[in-house]
Amino acid sequence: MLSGIAAPAAALDFTAGEQRRILRHGPWPPASRPDPSNRASGEPAAIAFGRALFFEPRLSVSGRVSCATCHRPDRAWTDGLPQSRGQRAVDRNAPALFNLRFNRWFGWDGAQDSLWAQNLRPLLDRREMGIGPGGAARLVRSDRQLSCGYRRAFGEAPGADDERIFVDLGKALAAFLETRVTGRTPFDDFRDALARGDAAGQARYPAAAKRGLRLFVGRGNCAFCHFGPAFTNSEFADAGVPHFIGPGRVDPGRHGGIRKLRRSRYTLLGRFNDDAGRSTAAGTRYVRLRQSNFGEFRVPGLRNAALTAPYMHAGSLATLADVALHYSTLDEERLHAGGERILRRLDLSARERADLVAFLETLTETAPRHGFVGKSGAVQCR
Ligand code: HEC
Ligand code: HEC
Repeated sequence: MLSGIAAPAAALDFTAGEQRRILRHGPWPPASRPDPSNRASGEPAAIAFGRALFFEPRLSVSGRVSCATCHRPDRAWTDGLPQSRGQRAVDRNAPALFNLRFNRWFGWDGAQDSLWAQNLRPLLDRREMGIGPGGAARLVRSDRQLSCGYRRAFGEAPGADDERIFVDLGKALAAFLETRVTGRTPFDDFRDALARGDAAGQARYPAAAKRGLRLFVGRGNCAFCHFGPAFTNSEFADAGVPHFIGPGRVDPGRHGGIRKLRRSRYTLLGRFNDDAGRSTAAGTRYVRLRQSNFGEFRVPGLRNAALTAPYMHAGSLATLADVALHYSTLDEERLHAGGERILRRLDLSARERADLVAFLETLTETAPRHGFVGKSGAVQCR
């Protein structure tokens, strides 16, 4: 497929090197396979059950908060708030829930190493839903629809082990969330036209977006971190975003995430991994805590970013224009000194910032791949 790089005349506004870097952001959607750590991954009955759980407010202590309270399908699967509010306020911004199946770590701090473990966190956190293993297991056992959904998804009635039922809820939710992959974008059409050497296809991509794209893969160095088809290298970095939570309190970011991961019962090294060979657990096994992890956050993917304002781990930037300004005026002194300097203050002109935004806006899907039908996800059991 990459042989299409040999540039036809019309593509020459991008150099061969730029073209190579652009092509790495596709094709979209990438191939994917079921998650071996989750026996429910890809199973239609588990997907249906997970969908029902996602909209289930009885999974919260107040009976009023569901996953969809903070991850609203009508708001690109986030809540539009700088920091979310469940039972109580939390410190961080709710990420949009799509393209999760391509992640290696979950949460802004990567405190979870699987999607199913991530889904348990709001059920444990008293500020979010807080129902915990006992409450969740009781609900599933006592409700006819939910226990039927569980049986269909996992092939057995909910048993006596609360924690096993609890983890299985995370797995059904993961099966559902894995189906959420964003659709094709104007950028993908351009990128594929470039791969094919299709000059007419390339000409349809707006000039401002092309200039922004050149900054993105070039002088801006954005693609160093926002790499590959999902526009993230799945790692952690300090992007110069202040991480004060309140007077005298800071969000430790990845440093705290690694410490939580090591304490957690729900990791790929633990007994709830359905993959006896632990084939996806290497990252967890070899993770090391370094001082430089302090204040690092996960590099977010940028697909559909135009729909998911506000931005950054605590929602500190309201618009994409603010993000472009942030990278343009960044205080280099605040960044970690160690290692290779990746981020530099870019001093972009107003037009360059607008170009960058024009490019980011072409990462918005033109038609959702999985049209979301209806709000309630009731499992139909008799
Ligand atoms: C109170 C609002 C709130 C509720 C309720 C909530 N979430 Fe979240 N969600 C968040 C926030 C905030 C984060 C970021 C957490 C962090 O990084 O510490 C998050 C992160 C996530 C992530 C990680 C995304 C990523 O890119 O790494 C997933 C997956 C997720 N939530 C799924 C769920 C599911 C499933 C439920 C219901 C069981 C749920 N959430 C309930 C606010 C919420
Ligand atoms: C050193 C790695 C790195 C580089 C280089 C980088 N970013 Fe980021 N980017 C991040 C990280 C990490 C975050 C999250 C920071 C946080 O929340 O504290 C982020 C956040 C963002 C967000 C917000 C996404 C969201 O959903 O909240 C956008 C948009 C973005 N970057 C665009 C860019 C652009 C445009 C460039 C180039 C000018 C760029 N980034 C360069 C690491 C990087």
